[in-house]
Amino acid sequence: MDFLLLCLLCSCVLYVFFLIIFPRSSRFNFRKLGLPPGNLGLPFVGESLQLISAYKSENPEPFIDDRVNRYGTLFTTHLFGEPTVFSADPEANRFVLQNEGKLFECSYPSSISNLLGRHSLLLMKGGLHKRMHSLTMSFTNSTIIKDILLVDIDRLVRLNLDSWTDQVFLQDEAKKITFELTVKQLMSFDPGEWTEKLRKEYLLLIDGFFSVPLSFFFTTYGKAIRARRNVAEALRVMVRERRKDSNKKKDMLAALLGDGEGGFSEEEIVDFLLALLVAGYDTTSTIMTLAVKFLVETPLALAQLKEEHEEIRAKKSSVALEWSDYKSMPFTQCVINETLRVANIIGGVFRRTTADVNLKGYTIPKGWKVFASFRAVHLDQLHYKEARTFNPWRWQQSNSGSLGGSTGTGNVYTPFGGGPRLCPGYELARVEISVFLHHLVTGFTWVPPEEDKLVFFPTTRTQKRYPIKVQRLHRLV
Ligand code: HEM
Ligand SMILES: *[C@@H]1O[C@H](CO)[C@@H](O)[C@H](O)[C@H]1NC(C)=O
Ligand SMILES: *[C@@H]1O[C@H](CO)[C@@H](O)[C@H](O)[C@H]1NC(C)=O
Repeated sequence: MDFLLLCLLCSCVLYVFFLIIFPRSSRFNFRKLGLPPGNLGLPFVGESLQLISAYKSENPEPFIDDRVNRYGTLFTTHLFGEPTVFSADPEANRFVLQNEGKLFECSYPSSISNLLGRHSLLLMKGGLHKRMHSLTMSFTNSTIIKDILLVDIDRLVRLNLDSWTDQVFLQDEAKKITFELTVKQLMSFDPGEWTEKLRKEYLLLIDGFFSVPLSFFFTTYGKAIRARRNVAEALRVMVRERRKDSNKKKDMLAALLGDGEGGFSEEEIVDFLLALLVAGYDTTSTIMTLAVKFLVETPLALAQLKEEHEEIRAKKSSVALEWSDYKSMPFTQCVINETLRVANIIGGVFRRTTADVNLKGYTIPKGWKVFASFRAVHLDQLHYKEARTFNPWRWQQSNSGSLGGSTGTGNVYTPFGGGPRLCPGYELARVEISVFLHHLVTGFTWVPPEEDKLVFFPTTRTQKRYPIKVQRLHRLV
């Protein structure tokens, strides 16, 4: 906070100088440059502080609403150190996603790429990215989930839930579950001391993504860099052991090692695994937690969800779920879609133009930042009736009118991004959340917290980690 205050103070001083040196008329002329209209805010910090304070509240929408009302769905602002074109426009977002690698490329500050590692899928470009993206897809597609992954997802979710007694923090438990699932999927490790130790380091590492990137031993960022080193070391040791192991496994790691025929280097494998663990961790677990929060706040939806899962359970002799069970949860899929729409954990994506780009009549110069906001579109009344209300029924086939508009969901609904960087975990996440919801609503009754607010900065989460008092109805293992 002190740092922010200091920034603010410096900015004010500079702003006054700025006003003296450049009289109003000669300042940034958006129209002349062909840029969307907007406001660059204060020097250096731009409008970052307004954005941060909006997203720290339960209702961040006014930040975007105000600007869209004033300038339209494409506007220019200044965020996190750079002028940025902000898109709240579904067509423009689609254009940005589809032209990844041609007119745009993903862009992360070096503070984040240092934490992820050079060889992570999120940072790769060109042909290598294409190859690795499809390799990842081939380990997360529905055939693989059905034939291989589902058994472990179901078993590990039950194992976790079975240990719950009295009070648990749902947000923390969900994180533990998704971490264990990902470790199992990537390298066939069952949960134990090793995974828990690795997870502790991960928590520190993730904090680093949302901190001021000053690397001293006492800062959050410094601790994150150290945690990254520890995680990488643990993974490196594991990779080495695997190389020696003659017992062939069929997981992501095996594919990376390439079974002898020119696989990847140790450093590449470590970066790759590390980033996959980051990508699937906070995202999936947050949706698990928030689905429960929204269901609790919408009792009719919770009742209908319970009914759907009781019906599945009544037909079975064992607690374990199968693929056909997953395929008979239509309302659950509506709940998941609606949670992704409203809480939209990845609010949008940053890209950088690699050429002068014509976007809906404006010209964005080469090298500029563009933020394609998914959240702005998902919560736009133009595209969804009563867009700011949680309403899972809007996804029911018979009711698709409340999705609004004639554009169809293909354009406007992009919780998993799109184009060459479409999230390879989109089906996996859905299955994990469905299995989790099934065992939660059939296996427990719970008392929710009296009040636990949603905040959106630095990440989407509930303020009190959603503590619930649980009572288990039957054994899950
Ligand atoms: C509810 C859960 C999830 C959400 C909302 C989500 C969302 C997203 C989005 C929006 C992107 C695109 C980023 C961009 O265009 O720059 C993405 C990329 C990615 N996601 Fe997910 N994700 C989820 C779960 C997962 C899971 C479970 C995995 C694990 C396999 C995963 C792995 C990845 C990877 C590796 C990328 C990078 C793809 C690339 O750059 O080519 N995600 N995710
Ligand atoms: C999923 O990937 C496997 C290879 O790992 C492939 O054989 C299968 O056809 C793919 N399935 C789908 C639905 O794309
Ligand atoms: C949920 O969203 C996906 C797109 O991510 C869509 O394909 C699917 O049909 C939606 N499910 C329902 C029940 O509408």
